[in-house]
Amino acid sequence: MEIIRSIKQMQQLMKQFRSEGNTIGYVPTMGFLHEGHLTLVNEARKNNDKVVMSIFVNPLQFGPNEDFDLYPRDFARDEQLANKAGVDVIFYPDVKEMYPKELSVTVKVKDRVNVLCGKSRKGHFDGVATVLMKLFNIVTPDRAYFGMKDAQQVAVVDGLIHDYNFPIELVPVPTVREADGLAKSSRNVYLSNKERNEAPELYKSLQKAVQKLNANERDLGKIKNGIQAHIEEKTSGIVDYVEIYSYPQLLPLMEPKGKMIIAIAVKFSKARLIDNITIEI
Ligand code: PAJ
Repeated sequence: MEIIRSIKQMQQLMKQFRSEGNTIGYVPTMGFLHEGHLTLVNEARKNNDKVVMSIFVNPLQFGPNEDFDLYPRDFARDEQLANKAGVDVIFYPDVKEMYPKELSVTVKVKDRVNVLCGKSRKGHFDGVATVLMKLFNIVTPDRAYFGMKDAQQVAVVDGLIHDYNFPIELVPVPTVREADGLAKSSRNVYLSNKERNEAPELYKSLQKAVQKLNANERDLGKIKNGIQAHIEEKTSGIVDYVEIYSYPQLLPLMEPKGKMIIAIAVKFSKARLIDNITIEI
C-alpha cells in the first residue's frame, strides 16, 4: 500500500494506473476508520482494479463552533486497517497541500441543503462539495463509494456529479451498524457510557416508524411525533430534527409516497448523532 501526501505525486500515480488500463474505485474519508469505512473499501474492491482512499479532515466543512480541532485522528491505526482491508493507495494530504491559499472560485450547493443537517450546519455541504470537487479531479475515479449513513451527503454528491459532468459512478452503500443497531460513526467515541447504552434507541425509533408506515399510517406528522416522543422518553439526548422527505430530491411530502427518507439528528453531551432509513411505499 502506498501513502501519498502530495497532489502532484497522486496525479502522476493515477495517470500511471489509467495508462495501465486499471479502473479506480475511490473511498473519500476523514479517517479514524471503522467498519463503516472498511465496508466501502470492500465494495470498491469488488468492482475496481485499484482502490484509493483519501484521509483528510476537511476544515471547510466544519462550522466555527464545530469539532474540527477535536475531530478524532489516528493515522497509524488507519494505515493498518486500510492496508488489511486491501486499499492500494492512501492519499493523505495536509491542509496546506489542499488549500495553499484562499480559493478564488468557490462551490455553493443550492438544492437539497436547506433541510436536515444542511439547515443547522450552514455552509457544511459547500465545504463537502468543494473538497470533493478537488479530490475527484485529483483521484479521477471510475466509481466513488459513499455511505447512506450520510444520506444527505449522497444526495448532494449525486447533484455535484451530474451538474459538473464528472465521469464517475456514485455507489451508495447501506449503513453499517453495531450489533445493537447504533450506526457506526467516528463520533460514537464521544458518548458517555450511559449515552452509548441509550443510543440504539435512535434506530429503534426509525424502525418503529417504518412499521407504522407499513401498517398503512398516512399521517407523516404523527409518525414524526412518534419518533420524537420515543427518543425523548428513552434517551437523555435532545432532538435536533426529525424529518421525512422524498429521496434523493429531499422535497417535502404531503403523504407517504415513492422513495422517502426518515432522518433524525440527536444531540448528546459531546456528540451529535444522525441516523436515517430510506423506504419505498
Ligand atoms: P467520513 O465521516 O469519514 O465518512 C467517510 C464515508 O464513510 C462517508 O461516505 C460516510 O457516509 C461513510 N460512513 C460513515 N459511517 C458509516 C456507516 N456506519 N456505514 C456506512 N458508511 C459509513 O463523510 C465524510 O467523511 C466527509 O464528508 C467526506 C465525504 C470525506 C468529505 O470530506
